Amino acid sequence: MPSASQSHHYDIHVFCCINERAPGHPRGSCSARGSQALQAYMKAQGKALALGSRVRINKSGCLERCELGPAMVIYPEGVWYTYNSEADIDEILQCHVLGGERVERLLLEPGQTRPRATEPRRLTLLVADVSLTAPAVKRFVLRSLDGSDLPAYPAGAHIDLFTESGLRRSYSLAGDPADRRQYVLGVRREEDSRGGSSWVFDQLSANSEVTASVPRSSFALAADATMHTLIAGGIGITPILAMGHELKARPEDYHLHYCTPNEVETPFLEEVRSVFGPKVTFHHDDGNPANGLDVQALLADSVPGQHIYVCGPAGLVESARLHSSHWSEETFHSELFALEPVTDELPNEAFDVFLSRQKITLSVPPERSILEVVRDAGLDVETSCEDGLCSCCRTRLLGGEADHRDHVLSSAEKLANESIMICVSRATDGETLILDL
Ligand code: FES
Ligand code: FES
Repeated sequence: MPSASQSHHYDIHVFCCINERAPGHPRGSCSARGSQALQAYMKAQGKALALGSRVRINKSGCLERCELGPAMVIYPEGVWYTYNSEADIDEILQCHVLGGERVERLLLEPGQTRPRATEPRRLTLLVADVSLTAPAVKRFVLRSLDGSDLPAYPAGAHIDLFTESGLRRSYSLAGDPADRRQYVLGVRREEDSRGGSSWVFDQLSANSEVTASVPRSSFALAADATMHTLIAGGIGITPILAMGHELKARPEDYHLHYCTPNEVETPFLEEVRSVFGPKVTFHHDDGNPANGLDVQALLADSVPGQHIYVCGPAGLVESARLHSSHWSEETFHSELFALEPVTDELPNEAFDVFLSRQKITLSVPPERSILEVVRDAGLDVETSCEDGLCSCCRTRLLGGEADHRDHVLSSAEKLANESIMICVSRATDGETLILDL
């Protein structure tokens, strides 16, 4: 076990057990419960949060809390945690590492033999201001009820809002990440809203309260880039705007290409002008994409050190992905804001899933998703988009080969086959999937 003396070079030193034991071992192991992927996630998030060299996130051998694992210990205080998901990791980073608090629900106390209830932390936020920033797009400013600082976040992060009817919707944070007093969101009222965006748009007014998750990041600026090329389409400007704030304080060069039909239909127009100054080019196509940004020409030359960030509708993201196929995969970062119905056209076969914690096997018929079948079995699984866009339903995959149909995992992550979006993805032919549920 690591000792406190090993940590004196760092302000905070995290050890995550990645010990592996043979399947069926009576004590189990942290690795079998997904600790390797979660440790890698924590390390990547630490980088995205710019924690710096005074915070170290290491792998460790068995910490002798196997039955309650995955286990981690954080020095110098020697605080122990158990964790199960990326949301748990985010909360430990936000509250313990950045905020100096304890995540009570995840604490592992000496002598503890049973896990605690692990409901993720929720924030109750005050709607401090609402304004229309474009037709059908509102800008929301959210603050804490007592005026205290909100959990920190890196540019590109999002929070989830919970509607009165229990729906969960993800919205990117568009403000300055250095400003801990408030979160700024942009919400477009979707015409085919299933009750999420319409509730936020119609019901949330100044002085109302709303429940939110802590921030999560899956679309961050690369730490090693020398040039950042940002492409935003419509409401996809929100995470890019936060990136603009962050890039102003960084030495690398950057430029934004912002695609909208015209000035009137350009969300956050004045803020974008103010944050990016001469480093933005507006592309107004008057509703005809042929008149808009020439993505192919923009991405024709792959330049060492240059990274591309694209956020917007599927057509824009797919076009950028297509025309950057000669760039290395690590330099392409994207987030979708709307989906075209491609997954419906894929053929579906029936398959089985084994839920390793429940120790039950469920059959997934061709016309149903894993998510629907799991819910029918009485499990409470958190979701947001249910379209494979947001990663909210990401579940650890312990066995079997998945047919990944989401728009979140990178090609490398799909190949690694360690997690699955159960709202859209399925099994490849004849496979039984083993899920950490
Ligand atoms: S296997 Fe992780 S604590 Fe023992
Ligand atoms: S709920 Fe969004 S990816 Fe599954």
